[in-house]
Amino acid sequence: MVIILGFINALLLTLLLSPFLLRKINKLIFQNKNKALKKSAALLSKMHMYFAYILLATALTHGYMALGTIRLHSGYLLWLLVLVQVIWGNLFKKMKKPYMLKVHRAIGLSSVLLLIFHLLQVN
Ligand code: HEM
Ligand code: HEM
Repeated sequence: MVIILGFINALLLTLLLSPFLLRKINKLIFQNKNKALKKSAALLSKMHMYFAYILLATALTHGYMALGTIRLHSGYLLWLLVLVQVIWGNLFKKMKKPYMLKVHRAIGLSSVLLLIFHLLQVN
């Protein structure tokens, strides 16, 4: 169950980063002309915050089931980063300052590095 939830977490994180990746691919390879990529990014963006709230719940369940306690661990650091993103994402939605999206993107991408570190730590 811990490992299944781990993969669900990884899937949710991928879905959270997908609008960014699809838009980048569309821009770099298709000069922004690929309609299917545009549509998929827009659809995933609509579900973005729901993925985030589900991830907060599934990651905490996965982590607590794996360790049975809360202590310093790459998994909990990753969870904290997702929590920061949820707070920052909501602030950005309210304030709409362009720099906030840049920070949100940067934290999102650094969560991939922390995920790699997490996977190295548990294997
Ligand atoms: C409730 C939580 C969250 C809210 C309210 C939120 C809100 C937003 C908003 C309004 C945007 C810009 C519009 C869009 O492209 O959809 C955005 C973009 C983005 N979010 Fe979030 N977000 C949340 C959680 C997360 C999490 C947990 C991650 C990843 C760890 C994440 C990663 C990103 C990335 C990478 C982008 C850039 C998309 C792009 O450049 O195309 N977000 N978010
Ligand atoms: C976004 C959050 C998270 C993601 C994407 C994630 C992902 C994963 C994945 C995919 C695995 C399976 C690795 C494998 O067997 O190859 C795993 C295992 C593990 N995770 Fe996480 N995790 C997250 C959060 C957490 C949290 C909050 C903790 C708590 C400290 C945690 C602790 C562990 C432990 C101890 C294992 C090893 C379990 C075992 O082998 O029985 N993870 N994680």
